[in-house]
Amino acid sequence: MAETAVLTLDHVSKHYDDVLAVNALSFEIIEGQCFGLLGPNGAGKTTTLEMIEGMTPPTSGEIRYRGGPVPANYQDRIGIQFQATALQDFLTPYDNLKLFSAFYDRPLPMQTLIDAFQLQEFLHRDTRRLSGGQRQRLLLALALVHDPEIVFLDEPTTGLDPRSRRDVWEVVRRLKAEGRTLVLTTHYMEEAEVLCDDLIILSHGSIIRHGSPKALLAEAGVDTLDELFLSLTGERLDAAEATA
Ligand SMILES: Nc1ncnc2c1ncn2[C@@H]1O[C@H](COP(=O)(O)OP(=O)(O)O)[C@@H](O)[C@H]1O
Ligand SMILES: [Mg+2]
Repeated sequence: MAETAVLTLDHVSKHYDDVLAVNALSFEIIEGQCFGLLGPNGAGKTTTLEMIEGMTPPTSGEIRYRGGPVPANYQDRIGIQFQATALQDFLTPYDNLKLFSAFYDRPLPMQTLIDAFQLQEFLHRDTRRLSGGQRQRLLLALALVHDPEIVFLDEPTTGLDPRSRRDVWEVVRRLKAEGRTLVLTTHYMEEAEVLCDDLIILSHGSIIRHGSPKALLAEAGVDTLDELFLSLTGERLDAAEATA
């Protein structure tokens, strides 16, 4: 199957006053793949994701959708998994789903989402009483309400226990099997190794490596992306997490 670039970044940069948060990034995101943005806290992952989502404009450079300008209905084609703070606390998961579904002309059937993300057991609970894993499943369901072709996930497993983390990985695999394009950020190298077809490693806003996990490991002659990052920067990713 020929590879189609859904999104192309061409020397995309973002300045915040005198801070260069993202420095001239160029890469393509291929249809049906899971693309990863990796790096420690402050590397520029969220800023890059928000520019690709159309939430914030680049200071310079260009983002293209299927080789052309980003279309007016782009927001209908993408699904964004928001942070937990976006949940309406006084609503149940059921009410949140209903509210989000009301924003769209042709939402997916609620039962389809309830089944896909296993929301049944806590469907009518106060969202404040959900576990971290349950909350992530609800946030994923909300991102999928309008059946988007591209799904954006910003650190989807940060703060989750290993079991819940694997549940989220399962969902990500399923979304990919459905033919969706996924873009995720993480500072867990293992997560990127398991989920991503292609990835960039960011350090201080710049790409320091780009490729498939396999190719990057083979090229560096190391066993894990953690080791690769350490050899490139002298820093440990988990050390960065501890000071976050
Ligand atoms: N709204 C903002 N205003 C000023 N600086 C920002 C803003 N958002 C991010 N930054 C800075 O940009 C850099 C990249 O941040 P971010 O994209 O959040 O990194 P990451 O998601 O990898 O942790 C950091 O130095 C951060 O302090
Ligand atoms: Mg971030």
